[in-house]
Amino acid sequence: MDISELNLTVASASGETLPITFAWTEDWLDELAFGLTEQGWVSHDVHEYLPIGMLGALGLEVQGLHRRQAMTLAGIGRGLDHVTDPSVRRDRIAWLDGVSPPQKALFEFLTRIQVALNKRLFLGLRRFEAHYATYQPGDFYRRHVDSFVGRASRVVSLVLYLNDGWQAEQGGALQIHNKDSDDEVCGTVLPEAGRMVVFLSEEVPHEVLKAQRTRHSIACWFRQDEVPIPL
Ligand code: OGA
Ligand code: MN
Repeated sequence: MDISELNLTVASASGETLPITFAWTEDWLDELAFGLTEQGWVSHDVHEYLPIGMLGALGLEVQGLHRRQAMTLAGIGRGLDHVTDPSVRRDRIAWLDGVSPPQKALFEFLTRIQVALNKRLFLGLRRFEAHYATYQPGDFYRRHVDSFVGRASRVVSLVLYLNDGWQAEQGGALQIHNKDSDDEVCGTVLPEAGRMVVFLSEEVPHEVLKAQRTRHSIACWFRQDEVPIPL
């Protein structure tokens, strides 16, 4: 199905609505799959593939949630094991439900990535979950992996950044670590609007360095299990 058949629109920064179109190229999806297979992670600027206005509208949504204090302190672990620990992680989050126009467009984009990865890598991804995250100046998230081996839950992680004009000296970079050697950094990704990083959730240790400026993003996990686990 072509996205235009869905007849979605997304609000632009100036308030008018714009039709959703994806300028899709199979090449970049091949690169994405190749990066995941070869090095476990890949970073890509996806600005030009997204519907006009989508990133700006998502940015406005998260800024609004943050301003209204509608975001909650992020935890580590799930269900009964869920605890907050400010020595590990300090961001605030709000889960996405895919209802507002820009979230609908984002969910369509994520669905297309899920289909593309399944087609190329036979990952058996069945659904995804996504939340906004906001780091205020001084916030960080220490080195971690997103999923425990063997749980077949979170298989692929994706982070999409929403910050215009991010400078290296503002900190807040995502650092990708080598899983076999504690202090080897394999990659550094600045959280610039439209940049996306994708990695294998069980395999790739990573860390968010202390931000000096408010940092907004969307984190998403593609999962192999079917039934949502209560948060
Ligand atoms: C996470 C995470 C990375 C980032 O939310 O688990 O590692 O760059 N985020 O925001
Ligand atoms: Mn993570």
